[in-house]
Amino acid sequence: MSHAFAVAHPNVALSKYWGKREGEGNFPAVPSLSVTLAGLQTRTTVQFDGALEDDDVVLGDAPAAPGPRARVVGLLDRVRAASRDERRARVRSSNDFPTASGLASSASGFAALALASVRAAGLDWTVEWVSDLARRSSASAARSLFGGFVELDAGAPGAPPETRLAARPLAPADHLPLVVLVCVATEAAKAVGSSEGMRVTMSRSPYALAWLEQAPRLHERLRGALLARDFAAVGELAEASCLAMHASALAAGVIYWNSVTVEVLGAIRALRARGLAAFASIDAGPHVKVLVHASDVASVREGLEGAPGLKRIIEARPGEGASLASGDGSGDRP
Ligand code: DP6
Repeated sequence: MSHAFAVAHPNVALSKYWGKREGEGNFPAVPSLSVTLAGLQTRTTVQFDGALEDDDVVLGDAPAAPGPRARVVGLLDRVRAASRDERRARVRSSNDFPTASGLASSASGFAALALASVRAAGLDWTVEWVSDLARRSSASAARSLFGGFVELDAGAPGAPPETRLAARPLAPADHLPLVVLVCVATEAAKAVGSSEGMRVTMSRSPYALAWLEQAPRLHERLRGALLARDFAAVGELAEASCLAMHASALAAGVIYWNSVTVEVLGAIRALRARGLAAFASIDAGPHVKVLVHASDVASVREGLEGAPGLKRIIEARPGEGASLASGDGSGDRP
């Protein structure tokens, strides 16, 4: 088969990946733990075709710009090297959620691309190998191969670039009654991508070392709270991981927040003071992903909706990992 179609979903990190190991291979400097979201999709088809002179990559409804195209071609090159097949590929990928929603489209994008390319090339790889391939393009994408709550270790210091590092599932989607309310703070695309944001943080922030030291500790505590199904502790630790990550970035001048971010953080504090279980998570953009106990969703939504400048709220729940899809749309695990 030289054609495949894959579907993948974005994920939100509860314990954040921010910073890479030195050297090649795109290894994270810290462990991370995320939840894969249902209802939002990237759909990607890959077809290797001997008649093509060059890779033909369309993202959304337009040919890919040089930067994103180079990342896609980098992944295709790894697949071509593994399958010893030089054919170029036709790639079509689209999201059913706005890229500017801050829902990490690179995670679902590279997860779907990795799965579709591996299958289109006829490689009989395990999902762990596909996760490792996705990680090399975007580390958060390694986690979107799996559903529910997913963990990705830090890379071992000094590991050779060819060392495999895949994410692994930690708990199923129904493990915790979690709902994520994505508070969209702007419709504009983000100014500084996460790779660049973490590079600047690591090279310039006076708090980079403090983050690298704290992140694994927060991660271990969050992992324990999750396995114990302690919702409040998971929420508190997720917010602490997000604030520590942003504190390190802010000190390097990497500022992702806008006024809406701060308004929503204030609204979350007010909701907690009323006894509602709502906690903040923020990635490389101004949007706040509010982690809410399923029984509090209606009241929390009501409390957030008045935040000045808020564009809209997208509601998402934990869901399944990436899958191959056939013509009739039925999914099957790799
Ligand atoms: C803030 O996975 O986008 O969303 O590996 O350079 O592609 P690259 O970075 P990326 O970083 C994600 C950063 C984050 C936190 C997280 O998802 O863990």
